[in-house]
Amino acid sequence: MNDKFILNDGVEIPSIGLGTWQSSKEDAYSSTLAAIECGYRHIDTAYVYENEDAVGKAVKECGVNRKEIFITTKLPSHIKSYDGAREYLAKSLEALALDYVDLYLIHAPWPWSDVGKDCTSGNIEAWKAMADMKSEGLIRSIGVSNFNAEQIDSLITSTGIVPSANQIRFFIGNTQEHITGYCEKKNILIEAYSPLATGKILDNGKISDIAAKCGVTVAQLCIKYCLQRGALPLPKSVTPERIKANLEMNFEIPEEDMRTLNGISGLFPKPYRS
Ligand SMILES: NC(=O)c1ccc[n+]([C@@H]2O[C@H](COP(=O)([O-])OP(=O)(O)OC[C@H]3O[C@@H](n4cnc5c(N)ncnc54)[C@H](OP(=O)(O)O)[C@@H]3O)[C@@H](O)[C@H]2O)c1
Repeated sequence: MNDKFILNDGVEIPSIGLGTWQSSKEDAYSSTLAAIECGYRHIDTAYVYENEDAVGKAVKECGVNRKEIFITTKLPSHIKSYDGAREYLAKSLEALALDYVDLYLIHAPWPWSDVGKDCTSGNIEAWKAMADMKSEGLIRSIGVSNFNAEQIDSLITSTGIVPSANQIRFFIGNTQEHITGYCEKKNILIEAYSPLATGKILDNGKISDIAAKCGVTVAQLCIKYCLQRGALPLPKSVTPERIKANLEMNFEIPEEDMRTLNGISGLFPKPYRS
């Protein structure tokens, strides 16, 4: 299994990232440090998580060169303009105390407070700003999150620029086959958020049986499943032993078990809240 994916713009991205949604500043700081210490080189945050400053502080203090660490952050979902995208990247860079981010995503196609709203033109404006900021060296790669095929198509049609990644809710039993297939065709990396269904998947009987058969924990099986499906998992933990275990992927899920796992459907339908 590769320890990196290569994005469609040639940028390398470490194949497992630490999630930080719902981590307090203290937890984001300590979990980022613990993660980097045990070998993670990829951290996922967002302006709205209100912990970019803590992640940035840990990156600064960890003793690993900034260039070796891949940092993703996200444009808040209600910012749908060219100037707004520029303003909010500047805010994120200031909070992180960095002069560039590795991946910048539009957090959602619509404001979380107005799910389903048509923001096509605002997304295109934000996308143009992100492309410009990439050219200026403030961002290495640009992408989206929670976008469907039609929403991605509208960005490509208006700008000719294909997102490098689409970060979506993806875990065993909830793999969003339509958007996953679309992204595969367009060479857009799927980043699997909530790979453990925000912790809810861990007591599933069928999945536990397969994990036991493979000699790993359910969390490890769920993370490996994403990798074997070609998606980049972003497990969140604030617990050092779990952070470490979530990176230990030195096993393969046999094909017949992958078939069984692929056959599970309808687990924890999306709540649309982030
Ligand atoms: N783009 C978006 O809209 C969006 C939305 C949601 C999430 N995300 C990203 O994806 C990341 C992950 O998703 P998520 O936060 O929903 O959660 P998740 O990674 O699916 O699950 C996290 C939960 O599982 C627990 N856990 C982690 N490793 C474990 C292990 N080895 N054994 C037992 N329990 C374990 C954690 O507990 P402890 O922390 O207490 O250890 C936490 O309660 C987020 O943090 C965020 O970076 C993005």
